[in-house]
Amino acid sequence: MSGIEHLEEDARRRLKACEIQRGKLGRPTPQELYWAGYLDALCQVQGKSVASNVNWASEGVTRMMSRERVASRIREEVLKCRACKLGELREERKEAGENITAVPGRGPLRTPLMLVGEAPGAQEEIDGIPFCGKAGQLLDQIVGGIGFTMNHVRIANTVNCRPPGNRNPAPEETHSCARYLRWDILNVDPKVIIALGSCAVAWFKGHPVKITQERGKPFTWEHITVVPTFHPAYLLRPNGREQMPVVEQDFALALDLLRRDDGQ
Ligand code: URA
Repeated sequence: MSGIEHLEEDARRRLKACEIQRGKLGRPTPQELYWAGYLDALCQVQGKSVASNVNWASEGVTRMMSRERVASRIREEVLKCRACKLGELREERKEAGENITAVPGRGPLRTPLMLVGEAPGAQEEIDGIPFCGKAGQLLDQIVGGIGFTMNHVRIANTVNCRPPGNRNPAPEETHSCARYLRWDILNVDPKVIIALGSCAVAWFKGHPVKITQERGKPFTWEHITVVPTFHPAYLLRPNGREQMPVVEQDFALALDLLRRDDGQ
């Protein structure tokens, strides 16, 4: 059984327990709705039909309907954004004939797990898809280690345009792009986010960080648990390779946190 199937089984068990506790009559408790929503998200992300028998409309939860609309609005705005130097530069390069684009988030809109990276690289700005280059291939493998695939998780970056020469995004660039990432995260509302590398962790913490000190130490952003770990591009460097087991450990921790009953 894969990691995501384990989560699904677990969510079914917890939902059943809530239903038994409630009995035949009465409205679902907030906890029951939480587990039902979580189970539905897990099923949807695997392409299965929705599992809970909660009538979301009668519970007043209509917001789920508009996630696609919100996501396409974010996408539209990202693709034409010129709010910082990176956006200006992207447009100048396009006008000069380069076939490049901004790179909005990708992946399902109902999923309990989201990954946040730093910035698109050379391949990403050509394809318009985050983590489709070498770092993405390694990420695919790491995500596979906890029983997920890249299609099961939402993936976004702190900035949506490639910084020249793959330099780190400047604070004013991450600040300018923050509206999109924040919007994307709150639209998807995952249970756990894995922040890949110091730039992503700094985005959530609101100040510069040393990833060697932060990795493996979960913290809360808004109501979401964030697990910091190394960036996969760092693992591709000769001196970064030895950190692979540590990253696998951080992903396993994220899986544990996904399983946790935090009484929401
Ligand atoms: N590195 C990132 O941080 N994001 C990408 O999308 C690709 C590489």
